[in-house]
Amino acid sequence: MKITNIELIAVGIPRHTGFVNKHVIVKIHSDEGIVGIGEMSDFSHLPRYSIDLHDLERGLRSVFIGRNPFDIMQLNQELVDHFPETMYYYEKGSFIRNGMDNALHDLCAKCLDISVSEMFGGRVRDKLKVCYPIFRHRFMEEVEENIQVVRNRLEQGFDVFRLYVGKNIDADEAFLSRVKEEFGSKVKIKSYDFSHLLNWKDAWCAIKRLTKYDLGLEMIESPAPRNDFEGLNQLRLKTDYPISEHVWSFKQQQEMIKQEAVDIFNISPIFIGGLTAARKAAYAAEVAGKECILGTTQELSIGTAAMAHLGCSLTNILKTSDPTGPELYIGDVVKERVTYQDGYLHAPDRNKKGLGVELDEELLDKFRVADLSWNDVSVHQLQDRTSIK
Ligand code: LMR
Ligand code: MG
Repeated sequence: MKITNIELIAVGIPRHTGFVNKHVIVKIHSDEGIVGIGEMSDFSHLPRYSIDLHDLERGLRSVFIGRNPFDIMQLNQELVDHFPETMYYYEKGSFIRNGMDNALHDLCAKCLDISVSEMFGGRVRDKLKVCYPIFRHRFMEEVEENIQVVRNRLEQGFDVFRLYVGKNIDADEAFLSRVKEEFGSKVKIKSYDFSHLLNWKDAWCAIKRLTKYDLGLEMIESPAPRNDFEGLNQLRLKTDYPISEHVWSFKQQQEMIKQEAVDIFNISPIFIGGLTAARKAAYAAEVAGKECILGTTQELSIGTAAMAHLGCSLTNILKTSDPTGPELYIGDVVKERVTYQDGYLHAPDRNKKGLGVELDEELLDKFRVADLSWNDVSVHQLQDRTSIK
């Protein structure tokens, strides 16, 4: 089989919060008529420069056209040459590599008439426990709005949440206190996510305040600046709670292992540049004796289906993972979205081929945008995923 063309389609899809995220849907065409689909999810993060879609499409065509899609390792290696790793969490090159690697897996599995799960050595589970995100409180007035989010999502079966913290600790505390008062043991807050906002000492002060409200806390996430391995290690020795951090480069993962910086690796294909790279990171974690969870950038259904296949194949996921992207957006570009039930992300049926989700061309047209250029958004909106300036 040979790749005959690459198509990139940009879409802009609003969240329920009003924030519009731009994603790129990938199609890899083949000489057998089979099309692989992938997703470069959520380009709407800093740094605030935009990718030239036509230039990217031309570049990817020059790498992929005429190639055998089953040469997944070789193609991934070439992708790293073209879009190198950096030591930055939201490196756009990783997003690009991820979309291409998703689509290669979809194409190859469809050609073999199997689901992507079979390419990963099958499944150790069929569903993953996940949490719904509560975005960062900036003002006290946001506490009641977020309590309403908990009420609504609990009704849908999401009983585990993750709280972004660190900007207004009084409001973080007030929120936790309200959750405890109204929901008691019905609701669990599995993680306090500092998103690298604070230095480790300030994070330590906040952790002491916030862990007074342990509502099923499983981990503390990103409580030091990016790549501050020593800071993470300091905190790890101070608190009884596991420390988790995202993996955004293999060098960074190596340092986190060497410097005993974390207990749990938060692994997402988008941040490490594909399913192939994410598997490598998860296996490295396992060899180092660490757990991992699946993280998220808030993908649409294609990216989330890819993560569901991955997560259901990994033996070292023991705690609650993060992918609930499709629940955050007002729309999607597939015929049937991935499904959530009782707070679990269900992997697509194994009888379905490839990633197990099908593009809906009408929806693709509905959400299509001309390019990835930035609208008039502020840094705070980008960081806190809100439409309010
Ligand atoms: C989001 O898009 O909401 C997330 O990627 C934010 C984050 O934690 O980076
Ligand atoms: Mg994101």
